[in-house]
Amino acid sequence: METVVSGIRSTGNLHLGNYIGAVKNFVQMQNEYNCFFFIADYHSLTTHPNPANLHSSVRQVLVEYLAAGIDPEKSTIYIQSDVPEVTELYLLLNMNAYLGELQRATSFKDKVRANPNNVNAGLLTYPTLMAADILLHRATKVPVGKDQEQHLEMTRTFGNRFNNMYGTEYFPESYAFNFGSKLIKVPGLDGKGKMGKSEGEGNAVFLADSPEVIRKKVMRALTDNGPTEPNSKKPDYIQNLFDLMKMVSTKDTVKHFDEAWKNCNIRYGDLKKQLAEDMITFLTPVRQKIEAISADETYLRQVARHGAAKARESAQKTIQDVREIIGIKRF
Ligand code: TYM
Repeated sequence: METVVSGIRSTGNLHLGNYIGAVKNFVQMQNEYNCFFFIADYHSLTTHPNPANLHSSVRQVLVEYLAAGIDPEKSTIYIQSDVPEVTELYLLLNMNAYLGELQRATSFKDKVRANPNNVNAGLLTYPTLMAADILLHRATKVPVGKDQEQHLEMTRTFGNRFNNMYGTEYFPESYAFNFGSKLIKVPGLDGKGKMGKSEGEGNAVFLADSPEVIRKKVMRALTDNGPTEPNSKKPDYIQNLFDLMKMVSTKDTVKHFDEAWKNCNIRYGDLKKQLAEDMITFLTPVRQKIEAISADETYLRQVARHGAAKARESAQKTIQDVREIIGIKRF
């Protein structure tokens, strides 16, 4: 059976982009593959969260994984820092990761541009830690959104480089995966780019948002006076609303508004109202489960401990093999 690994950083609540780009696939994959889903708390340290926030974010992602339908009986759910073996593999992979390629990573360049005062080594070596997460369980499939594609390419580079250096085929190649075949980018509500936590207030719809909050966020999305010529191309901020609609609404709804667009009689107020209601319907089952699971501390502890034990077993086996391959031997 193929092995699957994926993770999400503990940087706050999960949003619709995390859910559609990643978590929905996790839930589907657990029935067919040997799955490891973790909470990337080490990765989230690049932005220096305060200790109380870090812990509550880790807890929130755990709750939301479970609420979305990841089943601890089918998948191994764990917190990255509960499996310290990942740090050893990270260190070993860093020996073969070159400054130039790390600096060229798009995510690194974006972070440097966004926050030039915090260009730390953790940020630079983010892709080697991510490769360590994946190679630790020798996974072949990694369900992620479009923004992570380059990190998967780098993971293959690091794994193959290790294999070539030591004359082994120990690490398999892993590929970004989505059931719908094409990797997904869920647009945000600000009309610019992808939905993301750090893209500004109101851009992201969170799984835990109340219907009221969702309505407010959607109604505030940028629109204009409407098309002036039939069948014209939609500007990006309007296309984004249609793309979101394709993800949460029925085909008939999308068709209805698309035709209204083409005929120049679209009413954006109606479109946004409909989009908000369809998002609410889409997210309500998850939100209700978030509330229930969040209250059950004993269950959360049990899931985290059980997952950590299972993940460590797999990780320890890899580390033992890797040490052997490299020539790190016990006296
Ligand atoms: P993170 O925490 O930024 O995002 C978690 C997952 O959500 C997806 N995602 C999106 N998908 C579609 N549209 C969007 N707007 C959108 N925003 C986020 C991301 O693609 C991702 O799948 N580096 C990873 C965490 C990580 C990881 C790993 C993933 C660490 N180690 C090993 C896989 C395997 C990250 O920053 O995700």
